[in-house]
Amino acid sequence: MVRVALVGVGNASSAFVQSLELFNNKHDIYGMHKFLEEPIEIVAAFDIDKRKVGKPLKEAIFSPPNVVAKYTEVRNDLIVLRGPTLDGREGILSDIIDESDDQPVSVRDELIRTKAEVVVSLLPTGTDKASRFYAEESLEAGAAFINTTPSAVAKELGQKFYQSKIPIFGDDLLSQIGGTAAHVGIISFLRERGVKVVRSYQVDIAGTTEATISLEGWRKELKKGLKSNLIATVSDGAEVTAGTSDYVGFLGDRRVSYMVIEGIYSFGVPVRVDVSMKTYDGPNAVVPLLELVQLAKIFLGERKGGPLKEVCSLYFKSPPEQDSLSLEERRRRLEDLMMKRTPVR
Ligand SMILES: NC(=O)c1ccc[n+]([C@@H]2O[C@H](COP(=O)([O-])OP(=O)(O)OC[C@H]3O[C@@H](n4cnc5c(N)ncnc54)[C@H](O)[C@@H]3O)[C@@H](O)[C@H]2O)c1
Repeated sequence: MVRVALVGVGNASSAFVQSLELFNNKHDIYGMHKFLEEPIEIVAAFDIDKRKVGKPLKEAIFSPPNVVAKYTEVRNDLIVLRGPTLDGREGILSDIIDESDDQPVSVRDELIRTKAEVVVSLLPTGTDKASRFYAEESLEAGAAFINTTPSAVAKELGQKFYQSKIPIFGDDLLSQIGGTAAHVGIISFLRERGVKVVRSYQVDIAGTTEATISLEGWRKELKKGLKSNLIATVSDGAEVTAGTSDYVGFLGDRRVSYMVIEGIYSFGVPVRVDVSMKTYDGPNAVVPLLELVQLAKIFLGERKGGPLKEVCSLYFKSPPEQDSLSLEERRRRLEDLMMKRTPVR
């Protein structure tokens, strides 16, 4: 069994917890690569919102402001613990999160008590202090850490995790089929067909908490920078602008991405690709998270620590080491590593 602690019981957590009911009961999860036969169990969960803290996980995942739909019955009765707030309610988040009056628990002690092996951090964008805090507690408790937020945690703490032989994967999760992944894929295809991509842009609209807070000036710039940088790695110097552009409440968990990619081909004639894509934000995180949790457990067992390049550059928008391979080539590189590895006893 893989023992997982969740940090932040928001929309992505809701979809992930629901997916475990299916994963553990051997239902199909489309697009998922299976690395382990063991079930994945949530053994601890932390939040700061009074609508979630003190509630069983099976209820907390559907508490406001979460908007992810109920796809399946969840049986996990584990009580959500009060984590320390740090910068978890900074700026616009103070209008959205209803802070719990309970005293924070010791995160490290809880991770040790519950024998957590993998900590999955699903904190809001921009929570640098909280993201770093949970990573440090995870390191002290000897658990692998997955940082889905844009905070540079794997980049800054990677060396410490490496020395302790504990995996850390980050930063900023790349959705299974979100706008950024699709954008990278279309550019790679055009490049492969000999098109010189000249410029491209992408707008994303959703009705989630993340979409609301991504409108706050500095968070908007942060997201725009990270998405644009990743797309730029495959676009040979093209002008790229990508970011979250608006919050539309009635969309709920639905995300609308709109991409325009312009290039030239043949003897210089123009080509323009115009794509509109509708996905579900919470479920977008499920497959990468299921794969990452399994990989974290495997490499923790093999004492292969730090931010493994083969993992981070495939699953994250801002890995510690960026490279210019297509997503397909990055997948192949991870498969090669999985084939070649020699488990340490
Ligand atoms: N959905 C996806 O596909 C996807 C893709 C890429 C990245 N991400 C990243 O995943 C993260 C989570 O996204 P989400 O949509 O679930 O966000 P969300 O806002 O729905 O959930 C965040 C949760 O964290 C809690 N929180 C805030 N401060 C805390 C603290 N100090 N301790 C414990 N809990 C705290 C909030 O109360 C909330 O429940 C974001 O950083 C986002 O950028 C998600």
